[in-house]
Amino acid sequence: MKIAIMGFGVVGSGVYEVIESGNDSIAKRAGEPIEIKHILDLRDFPDHERSEIFTKSFDDIINDSEIELVAEVIGGLNPAYDYTKRLLTAGKSVVTSNKELVACHGTELLELAAQNGAQYMFEASVGGGIPIIRPINSCLAANSITDIMGILNGTTNYILTRMIKDNQSFEEALAGAQERGYAERDPSADIEGKDTCRKIAILASLAFERFVNSDEIPTEGITKITLEDVVFAESQGKVIKLVGMASKVGDKVFAKVCPVMMDKSHPLAGVEDVFNGVLLHADNVGDVLFYGRGAGKLPTASAVVADIIDVMRHKNTPQRKLWSGTAEVLPKIPEEVKAKLSENGITVLYN
Ligand code: HSE
Repeated sequence: MKIAIMGFGVVGSGVYEVIESGNDSIAKRAGEPIEIKHILDLRDFPDHERSEIFTKSFDDIINDSEIELVAEVIGGLNPAYDYTKRLLTAGKSVVTSNKELVACHGTELLELAAQNGAQYMFEASVGGGIPIIRPINSCLAANSITDIMGILNGTTNYILTRMIKDNQSFEEALAGAQERGYAERDPSADIEGKDTCRKIAILASLAFERFVNSDEIPTEGITKITLEDVVFAESQGKVIKLVGMASKVGDKVFAKVCPVMMDKSHPLAGVEDVFNGVLLHADNVGDVLFYGRGAGKLPTASAVVADIIDVMRHKNTPQRKLWSGTAEVLPKIPEEVKAKLSENGITVLYN
């Protein structure tokens, strides 16, 4: 299958590397090898081993009838939104790590894919390399999911971990996350909780099968957390974590992003550094915990390439409707959710 990669930053270069280094086994699993025919980026890469496939023009991709699939790893809304709409309308499948785009326009893009015989897949948009989208859609399909709690941002989790383990200041720890390629281009999306907000909105939309609007989720990041707060939590046998949470409350949804203090015995308390963890509660299976690297080049690329292989295996499968309608999002923590949090040793900071 001939594909294009849009965006050659941390994730895009990882997608190239994962495909080029694993194409033999990919071909066995997918039924054919992947040929990367174009890479779109505004920058020049004259020393790259395949510099001839780089282009600055989206037209080279949209007008190439051989291209069946595009990995959109540009990030942000523009121009990714416009490009994705045009690709799906042309019947080309799109796989992405772009949580902002999925959280804002996922409903429309999924519909466009369905109307045009294409697929829109976004395993890499939440939890980096952790399989979480497909398990919610497939493996847990016999359940009704009631609660989700996740450490969903590698940058902030890295910062909080380094503050406590190495006594680093907030600024030093953030610089470390940036050096490692975890942080967003504008790291305010990480530290102010917006990235976590988009991810919990995506998970809640999938789990509760109705669109959960990220704009309606009360969101507080970690900018007000000091080293003293982290040390205080430690002295109480607790840890501070930035979490996204969502619960089904009757026919409504409660969702929130904020730092919490959690008992060290909580299943998410040991999730450190760039690792993410997602704890789901569902009616039949009970609690399920997902854990792995939530950001970084190869973990995220691993999820993007898994989606490519999935599209290759299911070429004639129509895009499934993943959610319909819009959920009413409750602005305040309902009593029943408060009770569950306290039972689980979790104190919400900044109510
Ligand atoms: N900036 C994000 C994070 C990248 O730190 O988790 C992965 O979505």
